[in-house]
This record gives sequence, structure tokens and C-alpha cells, in this order.
Amino acid sequence: MKLLNVAGFFALVPTLVPALEPITTSLAFCGAAVMWQLFSPASWLKCRFLECCNMKDTLDIPALQMVLEQKVFGQHLATQVILKALSANSRDKQPRKPLVMSFHGWTGTGKSFVSKIIARNLYQSHEARRSFVHQFDAVLHFPHAEHIKQYKEQLQNWIRGNVSVCPRSLFIFSEMDQMPHGLIDSIMPYLSHREAINGVYYGKAIFLFLNKLIQKNLVDYFIPFLPLEYKHVKECIQEELRYQGHQEDEDLIIKIALAMSDYPNDDRIYSSKGCKTVASKDQLQTWIRGNVSACARSVFIFDEMDKLHPGLIDAIKPFLDYYEQIDGVSYRRAIFIFLSNAGGDLINKAALDFWRSGKDRKQIQLKDLEPLLSVAVFNNKNSGLWHSSLIDRNLIDYFVPFLPLEYKHLKMCIRAEIESGGKKINEAIVDEVANEMTFFPKDEKIYSDKGCKLVQQKLLYYWERL
Ligand SMILES: *[C@@H]1O[C@H](CO)[C@@H](O)[C@H](O)[C@H]1NC(C)=O
Ligand SMILES: *[C@@H]1O[C@H](CO)[C@@H](O)[C@H](O)[C@H]1NC(C)=O
Repeated sequence: MKLLNVAGFFALVPTLVPALEPITTSLAFCGAAVMWQLFSPASWLKCRFLECCNMKDTLDIPALQMVLEQKVFGQHLATQVILKALSANSRDKQPRKPLVMSFHGWTGTGKSFVSKIIARNLYQSHEARRSFVHQFDAVLHFPHAEHIKQYKEQLQNWIRGNVSVCPRSLFIFSEMDQMPHGLIDSIMPYLSHREAINGVYYGKAIFLFLNKLIQKNLVDYFIPFLPLEYKHVKECIQEELRYQGHQEDEDLIIKIALAMSDYPNDDRIYSSKGCKTVASKDQLQTWIRGNVSACARSVFIFDEMDKLHPGLIDAIKPFLDYYEQIDGVSYRRAIFIFLSNAGGDLINKAALDFWRSGKDRKQIQLKDLEPLLSVAVFNNKNSGLWHSSLIDRNLIDYFVPFLPLEYKHLKMCIRAEIESGGKKINEAIVDEVANEMTFFPKDEKIYSDKGCKLVQQKLLYYWERL
């Protein structure tokens, strides 16, 4: 219950949605001379408007440093190296090679968050970011290993095309470990020391690889992201609350941090999801509440997940990931619900343990079950999420346990069913129907085998007598 309150709290806090920067309207005042300037390729004006030519104009290192210090927690190493790399690169008028950084670390430690911060600071306007920041996701852009040849060509063309339009392009490759083998090798020429290739100069481009190691000599910086400790998770929460314009409230921060407590090892030092769910849980709820009433939204329900082909569900992973948009389409408002029996036995066992030790089932907390569930679902071949990277990457924000139903709950279902049929409740019949159901475990007979599933059918036999 505690957790629900904590989670519910977020829904009441208005989220500050950064407004899209409007494309500058002052263009209307520009005369012919200005237009001509705009179209001449090396024009200073074009650079100003497109924010693309000279990083010295656009990348404000002290500002970037401030953002990294304020928003990225527990990553003194990563922020140091990144700042050093970017400031050295931006001082250099004519770098001899593009800047290539490879980010490594546990999920949720901030790799893609930091790449987003870099993109934001490189290109402040949304429009510019859309044009000059290119995000490649292995699963989305290069899903079929057998099309590798075609992907290689495509990727090379994209990089060549984009860098020739804007030298200061930023390329982000996420999910490196799932890139088709050899794909990244095809862009090696663009990463290496050269003046220009076929007239295109790549020295100002920036490449970020999130995850896996690639050829060592081409990567300028390997940047480790340390696992996050409890105190860092607290800092993320504090920052998120501040961002949403909320008062500091230590109790609340602790509550949320504990509700998120999911630390992989027995020593319980490092958070297994890092800061990932801090914002996402809140976002999801705010969106659901606000938008469900205002407009139609897409809800995707995957029923009977246990019958789904293992691995299939990984195909939708990019749409569940933390991207602002993918190819101009934002998927953030969609809702994905997966229904499955997997982990049910674990939930039942936990509920039974509570019952046997004389505790109220309402004392069962999400954190008692959530970690068990994700592991159980991940390791169950019939869960549809078997070894799925949705779980691996923590793309599922909530594992929602449904507790087994007791005799009294079954009776509640029966009464509700009678009432919804417009009849008056007859307790004798309620008992009769309830007694027709089977219960488990064998000895104690506490929980209904089929939950409330058969209530409607069973009631049909009694309908005349109601
Ligand atoms: C730039 O890259 C994008 C992919 O991010 C691609 O769709 C586009 O065609 C490329 N532009 C050019 C001019 O090659
Ligand atoms: C719907 O969600 C969007 C974010 O996608 C948000 O900006 C907007 O305020 C929400 N609308 C309502 C009515 O809450």
C-alpha cells in the first residue's frame, strides 16, 4: 500500500514538459541577401541558424559541466572524462579525427542519459537535434543479421550524407552488443585519422557507442559508468522532484528510494536499475492519468504471453526504450501491458507464507515480490519473456503481482456478478456457488483454484432462483 501511495504521489505533481523551441520567426525579416547567405555552404549565417558548424558557438563547456554535475549521480569518472574529451575537442579548430567515445556500465547507470545531455548541449534547439543527432538502435535499424551487407551500405551512406551536410554531427549507437556482427567495422574508415575521404571531412563528427567494446585504437575514450549506490538513487529522486517543482521532502525521497530498492547482490550496495525507473514510473502515471481522459491513446495488451514465441517480444523493445523519439515518431505515450501466468506459483507461495505466519496479506509489499517476479519471468521458458532483453534492460517498469483469491474474495465476485445482472443478493446462493469451487493447497484450502473465472458460468444454473 505504501508503494502505491508513493507512486500515486507522482501523478499529482505536474510534469514540466520542455516546450518545443519554435523555429526562429525572425527569418521573415530577412532580405534577399540573407537568403543568399543561407544557401552558400560555408556561410556564417547558415551556421548560426543550423547550429551546426562550429561547436565553439554551441557547446558551452561550463554549462555542460554544471548539467553533468547536477543531474548525473555517482559517475565522477564518466563526467570527468567526457568533459575533458569534449572540451579538448571543441578547442581544436580542425580535429584530426572524429571524437569517439564508448560508454560502459550496468543498465540504468546513465549511459544513454549522458548521451542525451551531450546532444542537448551540442544542439539546443529541438529542430537542430532532430537533424544532426543520429541515434541507431541495433534492434530497430538493423534487425536482420542476414541483411548485413545492405545495412553496412546504408550506414555508410547515412554517415557520409549527414557529415557532408553538417560536419558536427553526433552519432549515437545504442545496444552495441546487439549490433549485427561486422556492421560497426564498416564505418571504421570514418573513425580513423584522415584529412578527408572523397572530399568529406569527418574530424568534427562525434561518435558515441553505448555498451560494448569495439576496436581499441579507434576509440578515444572508454568511459566507465559505475554502479549506483543507494545515496545516488536518492539524489536522482531529489533531482526529479526538484525538476517537477516540488518541495524538498526527505521522508518522501527515502520512501521512494526504498520502494525502488532492488539491489542485485546480498550486500545490497548497488542498485540494479540505477536511476532508470525514477523518472519513468512517474512519467507513465502522469501520462495515463492526464491523457486517458483527454485523448485516445494506444494501449497494447499482450495476453497469454506464455504462448508467445520466446524472443519475439524483443522486437518491440526500441518502442519501450527511453528514447525521445525514433525516426520522428514518439512512442512515449503508448501503453504496453503484458499478461502472463509466469511467476504465479511464486506469488502464491509468498501469499501462503504470509498467511501461514499469521500476517495480513495487505502487508505484502511490491518489493517482496517484484524482484522475484522479474527473475522468474526471465527464466521461465514459457513466459514469452524468456531471456528477453525487455527484462534484461529493465524496460518493464512494473511487475504487477496478482495475489491468489480467498474464499471471501470469491464471494465478493459472486455478489458483484449477481448485482450487475440486476438481481438481489441471496446469501444462501452466494454460499452455494462459492462452495462449488475448488481450493488449494490441499490441506488448508485457502485460495480459489480458478480465481473468479468461472463465477459467471456457475451462476447461470442458479439464475432462476435469484
Ligand atoms: C542522415 O541519417 C539519417 C539516419 O539518422 C538518414 O535517415 C538520412 O538519410 C541521412 N541523411 C543523409 C543526407 O544521408
Ligand atoms: C498527455 O501527455 C503528454 C506527454 O506525452 C503531456 O504533455 C500532456 O500534458 C498530457 N495531457 C494531459 C491532459 O495530461
